[in-house]
Amino acid sequence: MPASRRRSRVKAEELRVLAKLAAAGAHHAPVALASRELGAQLGVSQQAADRYLVGLAERGLVVRNLARRRQQIALTPAAVELLRGEFETLQRVFQGPSAVRFAGTVVSGLGEGRYYLSQPGYVVQFAERLGYEPFPGTLNVRVGAEELPRIGTVRRWKGIRIDGFKASGRTFGGATCFRGRLGGRSCHAIVPDRTSHQDVVEFIAPEFLRGALGLKDNDPIDVEIVEA
Ligand code: CDP
Repeated sequence: MPASRRRSRVKAEELRVLAKLAAAGAHHAPVALASRELGAQLGVSQQAADRYLVGLAERGLVVRNLARRRQQIALTPAAVELLRGEFETLQRVFQGPSAVRFAGTVVSGLGEGRYYLSQPGYVVQFAERLGYEPFPGTLNVRVGAEELPRIGTVRRWKGIRIDGFKASGRTFGGATCFRGRLGGRSCHAIVPDRTSHQDVVEFIAPEFLRGALGLKDNDPIDVEIVEA
């Protein structure tokens, strides 16, 4: 079963357990915490706290080390992702839509952007949903490893849907667009539903961005992507 489906069954009280563990630092390193202490913090019995931990360990959200006198508990990356999603939901509630900013470098792709962006099935949707017909191509920006979590944040946003379609006997995949600015010029990040590269973000814009900004391969570029 895919991890996302397993995780979708996490109950509200289990999320509270994960949040307590994170507050104790278990997202960074294992923390020594007896089930009795955890239960006391949650207002439940030692047995109930233990059941939560067993269930969370089965889902791959916590790792328990029972070899020591006091058990050691650590959150897995999947649990940290889950909490980040909760955090971002509340952040939107209290702070409104957010923006991510990062620095990247301009790179060339395989020249496929021009072909895809010229498909009438896409162009019609761009005109309708983004309000312009993009320059036929995508400008690719490579993102440094330390900035990748911010891209993960963008991928969780709703964005503007571009639907897939069939034309000339083949299938063209869907994508999601996010409003943004590249070197100060208006554009949209476009994230195809199926993509192999995780560290490259593609941008579309009404204009030829390389020309407007005087960009060549390996040039640094500042990017901003906004949620809504
Ligand atoms: O895939 P590749 O990077 O070779 O190019 P493409 O998607 O076919 O786009 C053609 C060229 O236009 C590339 O050099 C892009 O970086 C550039 N481009 C741009 O400067 N501004 C845009 N709005 C779209 C593409």
